[in-house]
Amino acid sequence: MAKMRIGILTSGGDCPGLNATIRGVAKATYETFGDNVEIVGIYDGYHGLIHGDYKEMTRSDFSGILTTGGTILGTKRTPYKMMQIIEDDNVDKVKEMKQTYKDLRLDCLFTLGGNGTHKTANMLSEEGLNVIGLPKTIDNDIYGTDVTFGFHSAVDIGTEVIDRIHTTANSHSRIMVIEIMGNKAGWLTLYSGIAGGADIILIPEIPYDIDKVSKACKKRADAGKAFSIIAVAEGAYDIEEAKMKKKERAQARAEAGIVTATTRIAKEIGFKTGLETRTVVPGHILRGGSPSAYDRVLATQFGAHAAKLLKTEKFGYSVAMVDGVITENPLADVAMKTKFVPENHQLVKTARSIGISFGD
Ligand code: F6P
Repeated sequence: MAKMRIGILTSGGDCPGLNATIRGVAKATYETFGDNVEIVGIYDGYHGLIHGDYKEMTRSDFSGILTTGGTILGTKRTPYKMMQIIEDDNVDKVKEMKQTYKDLRLDCLFTLGGNGTHKTANMLSEEGLNVIGLPKTIDNDIYGTDVTFGFHSAVDIGTEVIDRIHTTANSHSRIMVIEIMGNKAGWLTLYSGIAGGADIILIPEIPYDIDKVSKACKKRADAGKAFSIIAVAEGAYDIEEAKMKKKERAQARAEAGIVTATTRIAKEIGFKTGLETRTVVPGHILRGGSPSAYDRVLATQFGAHAAKLLKTEKFGYSVAMVDGVITENPLADVAMKTKFVPENHQLVKTARSIGISFGD
């Protein structure tokens, strides 16, 4: 009897927990199918699937990777919006992905990734491939799951960044504006802001008023607290920008010579309050290093559940945690949606109740 063959790829931005999830999928699959399964590692996400770049894996490839950051398979951003477009290289990406799946005689493809990855996973599923998604991102913005792997590791790192900034902010009596990754959703800024004791949290879901942000800093200074910590999501914008479309916003910023909200916020607060400001951008540090204990557990749970879906031939789904229970959602329900922070989310309320300002 022909052996079952499964493919696995990691796509989009990396994060801690990718290897732990790969390991979880592989170990649970070997446990379920024994020697009747072969695993193919596809390199660099969908890019490897398009170009037939892969490796026949063995059990030893999945050993010792639980704690390793990044991804042993490599990753790339291959934007969904370009998938159906034939570019200068004349490659029909969808056709090639289907052909590689066929050439490798795959029975199923596991796709580990964020929103973009899920869109392409859903498209491949609609094209007839057996696909199972696993939700990865430090942004925690995948629809239909309480949490994504990588998120809590990034929260831990973001929290440590804020902790360390606290001491130097205090020594110098400065306003420290810390930019936390998250272009569309503010989950990472909200969690690490609360955990790190930020005084002001600015997220894309709650447009800020710079006068109110400045007043909050001034109020603290007047009360004898000369420093303030502002955690700003990368994609935060103000109440004027909130009236604009995304493109108009980008154009307005370019015309004003503004690169990010962070630099502008720091400049304007300095101007309005007379307080000294500095910006801090931890950037990709938030995605580096070993996964947290939480993420190792979550990755193992997600991986094991994916193997269960394979066993029951439940394809076209993405693994999820819903109300604390590991389950799955149809890929079609997950793709094309984003999980934003609701304005009245309980954490927003908690933050407000202890005096944290959202600048609104
Ligand atoms: O989606 C994860 C993420 O880290 C976002 O928070 C951030 O905006 C983006 O990726 C950065 O992407 P890149 O690694 O391509 O610079």
